[in-house]
Amino acid sequence: MITGLDHIAVAVPDLEKAIKRFMEDFGLILEGTEDVTAVKTATAFFPLTSTSIELVHPLKGEGAIAAYLEKKGGGLHHLCFRSDNIDADIARLKARGYQFLSDAPTMGAHNSRVIFIHPKSCDGVLIELNQRIDAH
Ligand code: CO
Repeated sequence: MITGLDHIAVAVPDLEKAIKRFMEDFGLILEGTEDVTAVKTATAFFPLTSTSIELVHPLKGEGAIAAYLEKKGGGLHHLCFRSDNIDADIARLKARGYQFLSDAPTMGAHNSRVIFIHPKSCDGVLIELNQRIDAH
């Protein structure tokens, strides 16, 4: 079951500059940064009352975020819905014809299992589902 909007991710060409903007110009509190090496992405999270803003940036200039920035220069990258049973949600959505970017969830930031639904299944919006492993 989907239980909330976990975060909104913005792809940024200069992570340090974007972190400074969110902290110093917008006054948000940086929860921390985390490199997700499996997807070659550096992340920074700014939690809000019921969701977070996630900045995503290529790790070592590689990966899907690098390709995204090259094409678009930056922008709103994906929405992430929080799930309390990601395996059941994947099975339910697959049965309804949704396509995913991988066959099974992978490890994402925050010790969570994550999977992405193909944008062509959602009117062009990239949607991530996540389930925090410690959220039982
Ligand atoms: Co995300």
